[in-house]
Amino acid sequence: MGSKSRITGIGSYVPCKILANAELETMVDTNDEWIVQRTGIRERRIAAKEEFTSHMCINAIDNLIHKYDVSVLDVDMILVATYTPDFHAPSVACLIQQHYGIPATGTLDLNAACAGFMYAMNVADGLITSGLNRKILVVGADTASKITDYTDRSSCILFGDAAGVILMERTEEAGACIARHFGADGSGGIHLYRTGLRSEMTGKKLTGGGMLMQNGREVYRFAVGTVPIGVRKLLNLAQCGVQEIDWFIPHSANLRIVESLCKKTGLPMEKTLTSMEYYGNTSAASIPLSLSKGVEAGQVKEGDRLLLFGFGGGFTYGGMIVNWTLRCCRSNRRTARLPILGRRSRGC
Ligand code: COA
Repeated sequence: MGSKSRITGIGSYVPCKILANAELETMVDTNDEWIVQRTGIRERRIAAKEEFTSHMCINAIDNLIHKYDVSVLDVDMILVATYTPDFHAPSVACLIQQHYGIPATGTLDLNAACAGFMYAMNVADGLITSGLNRKILVVGADTASKITDYTDRSSCILFGDAAGVILMERTEEAGACIARHFGADGSGGIHLYRTGLRSEMTGKKLTGGGMLMQNGREVYRFAVGTVPIGVRKLLNLAQCGVQEIDWFIPHSANLRIVESLCKKTGLPMEKTLTSMEYYGNTSAASIPLSLSKGVEAGQVKEGDRLLLFGFGGGFTYGGMIVNWTLRCCRSNRRTARLPILGRRSRGC
């Protein structure tokens, strides 16, 4: 058997500051009932003024190191999925390398918006199975609060800040990845974008170098149209039925979207892990955050089969079916009876 990749650790981080719906009511013309009914979101976490994506990534990696008692000094590639890097250059991956003093590693940021973590996982799996790399940190992190317009009630209610990370390593045994499906539709770019060197896309003049713009209805339509097709493709590729999936972990954009995805695919809500209720839409961090919380709560267990699916700006989308081969970590054993996912986490 050739080289395969397996997941050997997972960690996550959310900032301390909570922005609850009640506080948003004082900022824009909205109310808790409307937000909960349309999105399922009650709270989101907001990075401190001087807290950026790289800081959150490092906290998530520290969480992984602590839980699994591993070293990252022999990592040979760092991949960071983000559309809110601290700088355009150096990359967030370089800032991580510098922080830990990792002596011999490649560093790369990649941007596929909210589908970014899935893309990064796919790239990491490709690098390992091709024999180019042996041990990769795969991080998804975004500080969307830094680019959110807090006068726009249709978008500022959605986003929160977070980071999630997995460690992927080479194995000669059975690999984690069973099936993958990725794609993009650039014609959807105008419906969800972040301004950069160019600030105009729809003819609307925007101020500032990095603002998030969204047409919520079109994004909704894209998600509920594209993701179910992708899920069916994945199931076909893996030659398995929905009943053989232990956990569905879609991008936690919005509860209504997730409910629609479950209805259309037949994947049950009770077997679906989300994180939007207390963390909002955390962009590239949402899938590893939901998974990390699910593992900590003792829901995701060794031997489970997971279907992960991301979607977002671009439009981009991508999913994988993976075997979860990770044994209980140190803190799993201690926290196996902690509240299930969705309840507010303790501290940061
Ligand atoms: N509070 C109260 N009312 C609001 C509001 C808010 N925060 N935001 C919008 N509204 C109002 C609108 O102004 C509109 O009022 P009108 O009928 O008087 O014009 C009404 O609510 C309906 O607006 P609409 O945009 O049609 O609402 P919606 O049902 O589509 O819900 C979203 C808006 C953003 C929640 C929904 O479109 C959505 O979830 N889209 C996907 C967004 C997403 O997930 N993005 C990230 C993907 S990675």
